Amino acid sequence: MKGIVLAGGNGTRLQPLTFVGSKQLVPVYDKPMIYYPLSILMFTGVREVLIITRPGELALFRGLLGDGRQLGMTIDYAVQDEPRGVADAFLVGAEHILGDDCALILGDNLFHGADLPALLRRSAQRLDGCVLFGHHVADPERYGVAEVDGQGRLRSIEEKPAHPRSHLAIPGLYFFDDDVVDIAKGVTPSARGELEITDVLRGYLERDRAELVWLGRGVTWLDTGTHESLLDAGHFVRDVQRRQGVRIGCVEEIAMYMNFISADECHLLGEAMSTSPYGQYLMERARAHTADHWPPTSLEEA
Ligand code: TTP
Repeated sequence: MKGIVLAGGNGTRLQPLTFVGSKQLVPVYDKPMIYYPLSILMFTGVREVLIITRPGELALFRGLLGDGRQLGMTIDYAVQDEPRGVADAFLVGAEHILGDDCALILGDNLFHGADLPALLRRSAQRLDGCVLFGHHVADPERYGVAEVDGQGRLRSIEEKPAHPRSHLAIPGLYFFDDDVVDIAKGVTPSARGELEITDVLRGYLERDRAELVWLGRGVTWLDTGTHESLLDAGHFVRDVQRRQGVRIGCVEEIAMYMNFISADECHLLGEAMSTSPYGQYLMERARAHTADHWPPTSLEEA
């Protein structure tokens, strides 16, 4: 499976933060925002990732993540010249996908939960068409909303409905088979002028090839698109990390747990930033990973 992080957009709600920089490079507490969605692709087992950025920002992302080799991954970059909508990711990324399955994540979505890595891998393995996720929220009218029948099967999808039929919001994470490029090519701009991801999802639903996977109560989903939600996300990350002493969205550590890199390589990445607590943490985790250590350092703990 290939991965795409959609990290363009104008981020107008975060202005002036986004006048001269990408929203997805803004810090969420101790790391750039893009670490969080990237870590979700890594948990899914994805090693080949395309990052789609605004024109002029590609070099910044490349400066941060390079070609991905340090994480045992391959990271490529592409430019979306206008924010034409989420479904445009499949047109910009068509060559990257090339006959493979694809996981798409929006660059401003943050997920956390102990069961999440296993859930993601299971869902990716049994992919047949597309998988979208459902998350119970208090304010569904702000999101794409899934309507399900009594058995939890997906019945309809509505974008920001005035009268939502459920509280199940659809977060910005989706798995697709390689039909997605053709389906996206058939999508026309909506009333707000965007190629809507809900239209792609509906294309799969009409073919009876869309599976809704519920993210249980144990999973937290945050988006970071407004000043308030960005600060909330920062507090969330700080509070969990401070209480538990483990980090969320720490891509170097996850690369080690996923066996993309060795513990020695993770230690070296920590050494390169050893004056920061983040670097020191990486060195500690790398040492614990190699030592006879209880509790075991494992993926499900991450
Ligand atoms: P949005 O929050 O819908 O848009 P935005 O980030 O431009 O912010 P604002 O509404 O404040 O102007 O985008 C969700 C995510 O998807 C975000 O990470 C940016 C990304 N995105 C693109 O990269 N290209 C696009 O064409 C769109 C619509 C979104």
